Parts: sequence; structure tokens; C-alpha cells
Amino acid sequence: MSERILIVGSGAREHAIAVALARSSQHPELLCVSGARNPGIAAMTREYEECDITSREAVTAFAVRHGATLAILGPEAPLAAGVADALWAAKIPVVGPTQSLARVESSKAFTRQLLAKHAIPGNPFFQRFESLNGVEEILSEFPMRHVIKDDGLAGGKGVKVCGDHLLTHEDSLAFCRELIGHGHPFVVEEKLVGEEFSLMSFCDGTTLRHMPAVQDHKRAYDGDRGPNTGGMGTYSDADHKLPFLTEADIVAAQSINERVAAALAEECGAPYQGILYGGFMATRDSVRLIEYNARFGDPESLNLLTLLETDFVAVCRAIVDRQLHSIDVTFAAKASVCRYVVPEGYPDQPRKGDVVNLPSSLSDGVSMYLSAVDMVDGELVATGSRTVAFVGVGDTLTEAEAMCGAAARQISGPFFYRTDIGTPEAIARRVEHMQTLRQA
Ligand code: AMP
Ligand code: GLY
Repeated sequence: MSERILIVGSGAREHAIAVALARSSQHPELLCVSGARNPGIAAMTREYEECDITSREAVTAFAVRHGATLAILGPEAPLAAGVADALWAAKIPVVGPTQSLARVESSKAFTRQLLAKHAIPGNPFFQRFESLNGVEEILSEFPMRHVIKDDGLAGGKGVKVCGDHLLTHEDSLAFCRELIGHGHPFVVEEKLVGEEFSLMSFCDGTTLRHMPAVQDHKRAYDGDRGPNTGGMGTYSDADHKLPFLTEADIVAAQSINERVAAALAEECGAPYQGILYGGFMATRDSVRLIEYNARFGDPESLNLLTLLETDFVAVCRAIVDRQLHSIDVTFAAKASVCRYVVPEGYPDQPRKGDVVNLPSSLSDGVSMYLSAVDMVDGELVATGSRTVAFVGVGDTLTEAEAMCGAAARQISGPFFYRTDIGTPEAIARRVEHMQTLRQA
């Protein structure tokens, strides 16, 4: 029987999931539910319904009605809402952890405490607060060297970093007051200094299969300037490491993912089945943990699903059947560069409703994934967030970057993208930054 796979969500990440599934020799049928209609996904699916994807009932009813044999949850919100629990209860296996396990993303304090309790390396100093009691002392202990985080999911807006968003002690106190004023507990952490990277692993609860390391670019503008975004683009290298990392850094990050998966199984009494995404900082002397996500990164997954060689349907089946030990998961030994094209004004005041003229053809080695777009009167229009992503795949980063750039340049109109992602100059700066830190 061929698989009928439900994809929950409709960004470029879910478009890339659909494309990777469709490459399978098993020819699965695809279904999608999401809050919006992504024409790229709609063209590939048998059924597509718009609904509230945090509603356990709505998603499960759709999955049952259309005979889904497996589901993949893309974004964090349905994971945190327990949609996986409801699907499993309806006998539909899910790639994506249950609500309790998804706390690895939905609660910053849960994850910090998990690492501390299980003596897993990587934590900075941290303390959780439910009131302002004692917060002044901690902020003063790390003057201008702290980060303040909303303990819960805040759509990327819940983290403020000294030197970036918090310029004075008073700024920090004001943010703490604001969080408590909204009834949100928060975590104060020591600020880590280094280069960030993402290391994601497929996980069936016991066995992990690691993906190549990727670097995201969160700031809106070239040179890492401007406001934080969902991620403007990413690159990965042909050797599956990153030019500023050592082999030991990769091994350390993989080991933290493995130990966290084991700790989660012990803590929650259930296997973590899905994608475990470690956000790490390579620092002067070790790899430290920034945060965990309970899902594929966006844009990281656009690079990696494009490079994935193993049949993705087989990988998903192995995750839900807890058989990952029985398959190898391999990625092409190629470099990849991904860039998002976004509306002018993104992320704070994005233009909405502009027509997107997609390239009429793409060169070999370039993939395109649609994100925040809609069809209005037969035209593709941008809905105000990351619009379309291009991934170039080549033998070297220089080649991949050139291919990705040539594709992104074809989008005209009131849009922009970062031109520096994956360029030799930007990569050299990161390598130099790490060398300077390591020699200090
Ligand atoms: P998060 O939402 O946890 O990914 O945090 C958003 C961004 O804040 C991260 O990508 C980092 O750039 C930064 N950040 C979070 N925690 C720390 C930390 N302890 N030290 C330095 N930067 C951090
Ligand atoms: N690339 C950042 C994220 O997916 O959260």
C-alpha cells in the first residue's frame, strides 16, 4: 500500500518536505492542512484544506477523513499544542514529538534544566524567574553580558540580547518588567560569544541520524545588520562541516543531541520521534547550546532536504516505526546556499499584496520553494513574510552561491534579499572571527 502523507504547515519548509517526499520511489500521495494556501504545495497534493493547525480536532479529523498513513508536523505551534498526541491517538503515526517532548522547544527553562539535571555539557549560566525578585542581582552579575528570554514560544520575538537589543541595565530591567507584566516567566542567561550553527538529527527515540551542519543568518540585512528575522538564508558545505568549525565541534554537537534525546526519553517516559534541532554556538573553548527546536529549521531544511539522498519516505517510516538503526541516511557531498527573497519592509513593516514574478526557468542545480504567497485573481502575490527561497547546490560554496544569487536576482519589484550569504568574503569573516576567539 502506498503511503498517504499529511503535511501540516505551508511555508517553504513544508514545500521542501513535499518535494523531498515526492522524489521517493514509493510515490506517496500527499495531503496538506495549513492556515494558508501555498500554491507550490497545492500543486502536489491530493487534498489541501485551510484550517487552524493548532486545533488537535481539526487536524486529526482531516487526517482521518482522508486516510493519512503518516503525518509530518512542520512548524512549532502544532507540536506545542499537542497535535502529534491527537494524531497518534487516532492511530496515525507522526514525525514530530508529542506535546510533553516538544517542551524542548516550547520551554527554554525546561531544556536548560534538562541539560543541568543530566549533566549534559553546553549550558551557559541561567536562572528562571516568575517575578522580579532577585533579577537585579543576576543582571548585575553579568553586566552587559546577558540574554533575556521569554520562557515560552514567542515567534522569535521573545529573546533580547545585550549589545543588540538591550543597551543599558535599564533596558534589561524594562524588558523583564514587560514580560512579568504580561504574565510571562522568563530566563536570564549568560551571553555566549562565538559563531552560531545548526545541527539537526533525525531521531526515532533511540537512534539518531545526524544531518550536515548549517549556518543560518537571522539579521535582515547584509553584514548581519538590521532586525532579527525568521532566517534570511543558510549555507552548508560539501564536507558537511562548516569552514569555521573543527571536527571536534561537530562531534560535540552530535553528542549533545544524542544525550538530549536520551534524557528526553527518560524524563518524558516516551521516545522523541521527529527532528531534533540543536542551535549551537561555537565559542572560544567549546560548543555551547543556544536552544533546541522540535522540528526542521527554516531555512536549514531547505538546504538539507535538497541534499538528502536517502528516500525521505523511508526515513519518515523508520522514525515512526523506531527503525532508524536499520537505515543509512546520506546527503550529497555538495555545498548548498539558500536565500530568501522577502518583501520590502520585512520583518517590521513588510509590504503585502505585490505580484511575484517567478523566474520562468531555473538552471540545473537550483531549487525554488514558495513560502508566504497566495494566488489572487490568477496572480501570485506576496502576503508579507519570507516570500520565496532559492537553493543553489554545487561542488563548492562559491559555485552554489553564484547559482543561488543568479536565481534570486531574477525576482524584480519591491523585494530584497541578503547578497552576502555564502560569499567567500562573508565566510572568511566568520573563519577569522573564530580564529581570533580561539587564539585569545
Ligand atoms: P532563540 O530564539 O533562543 O533562537 O534566540 C534568538 C537568538 O538570540 C539566537 O539565534 C542567538 O543569536 C541569540 N541568543 C540566544 N541565546 C543566547 C545566548 N545565551 N548567548 C548569545 N546569544 C544568544
Ligand atoms: N532557522 C531558525 C529556525 O528555524 O528557527
